[in-house]
Amino acid sequence: MENKITSLFGIKYPIIQGGMVWCSGWKLASAVSNNGGLGLIGAGSMYPDVLREHISKMKEATDKPWGVNVPLLYPNIDELIDIIIEEGVKIVFTSAGNPAKYTSKLKENGITVVHVIANSRFAKKCEDSGVDAIVAEGFEAGGHNSREETTTMVLIPQIRKVTSLPIIAAGGIGSGSAMLAAMALGADGVQVGSRFAASKESSAHPDFLQKVIEAGEGGTTLTLKQLAPVRLIHNKFSDRVAEAQKRGASVEELKEMLGKGRAKMGMFLGDLDEGELEIGQVSSMITEIKTVKEIIDEMINEYNSIKENITRNSAYQF
Ligand SMILES: Cc1cc2nc3c(=O)[nH]c(=O)nc-3n(C[C@H](O)[C@H](O)[C@H](O)COP(=O)(O)O)c2cc1C
Repeated sequence: MENKITSLFGIKYPIIQGGMVWCSGWKLASAVSNNGGLGLIGAGSMYPDVLREHISKMKEATDKPWGVNVPLLYPNIDELIDIIIEEGVKIVFTSAGNPAKYTSKLKENGITVVHVIANSRFAKKCEDSGVDAIVAEGFEAGGHNSREETTTMVLIPQIRKVTSLPIIAAGGIGSGSAMLAAMALGADGVQVGSRFAASKESSAHPDFLQKVIEAGEGGTTLTLKQLAPVRLIHNKFSDRVAEAQKRGASVEELKEMLGKGRAKMGMFLGDLDEGELEIGQVSSMITEIKTVKEIIDEMINEYNSIKENITRNSAYQF
């Protein structure tokens, strides 16, 4: 399966594992890279020395291409970027911020740079900053997201219209059929978060993963829009936030309610009532914790067989 994304990164399948705080350390990322996708270490939840340790373990665990995801909303970003350069990381995905800030520094150091966006206006900014590809992330996605609520289905064709950069679709993709749909809309590859968060190699707490399996349709919601919008599974904490938002709580009050370390509390330490439980809408279709190999094999098999069926049964040729 060769296309712009497989050649950009030198990988077998155009499947990227999204960087995910508290879920995607070297274990998950190396498993994805070793099985033909592109694994990303999620640096957002890492102190600088922890990132260094994960990079060093990653180098031992795989000889395939891999990268680091840096969400620009966290502290220590300059330090993380310097470590990435010092350690000779070849691929960086930035998100939640301005692509102009670090792209040229990374590119000067020979790094392939991809930036995550959620609307077509930012595509131009990405082009001007010199990124090599764009992740277009829809409203369905787990984790931090845009206030605008544009779904993947609507977002991809709009971004395709305004840029010739390679596009990686994200949000709601956890199967081969969804991958095929994203490619039909104009994407060159997919970024998968939630499905890999709920894998055997994920570093998330088992109780959180059990909660993901139990989450049904409507089990998640995009909340904290006034601060930094994030999609969470409903729990006592998110109910309290919803109630506060309903009565018009101020940004300061919401900030205080959120406090510090709630994502770690929920996803890494397994506090299902008080922690933030970040996951996408696609969680309603996840019924089992599988290995990365099983997830990728199933996606590719389903992608190929559905593509063949559609091609055979319609006049449209892919
Ligand atoms: C638990 C979790 C944590 C995430 N953390 C980050 C992060 O640190 N940086 C980032 O750019 N995106 C983050 N995301 C978004 C993913 O990288 C990916 O784009 C998204 O999950 C794709 O949508 P999906 O969840 O429907 O597969 C996170 C997603 C989840 C589910």
